Amino acid sequence: MYFLFFTNSIGQQHRLFFEPHSYSNLMEFVRDQGIEDWGDCRGRAWCGTCHIAVTPKNDLVITEIDEVHRLSLLSNASTDSRLACQVFLDKRIHQTEIRYIGDD
Ligand code: FES
Repeated sequence: MYFLFFTNSIGQQHRLFFEPHSYSNLMEFVRDQGIEDWGDCRGRAWCGTCHIAVTPKNDLVITEIDEVHRLSLLSNASTDSRLACQVFLDKRIHQTEIRYIGDD
């Protein structure tokens, strides 16, 4: 069984179990758990509402230029930043700690 820890926008920590590839991305998975009401652009990497920090980052390398661009516009981005809509729900996020950051 795969799981991750997610700290939401009001500081509550959740342990979420997931089936790899059961959702197209992490943003949709967390939204459907009723934990965050986010994803204004519906996963297009335009809005930044699904901005998160992931630790450890493992091999979650950013590959899409749209994500790089959106993160570069957020003043609260860090080296741990990702957009949840661009993160696949797969084994690479097993046992990671994910914290909501949001757009600024
Ligand atoms: S849903 Fe808009 S950037 Fe992720």
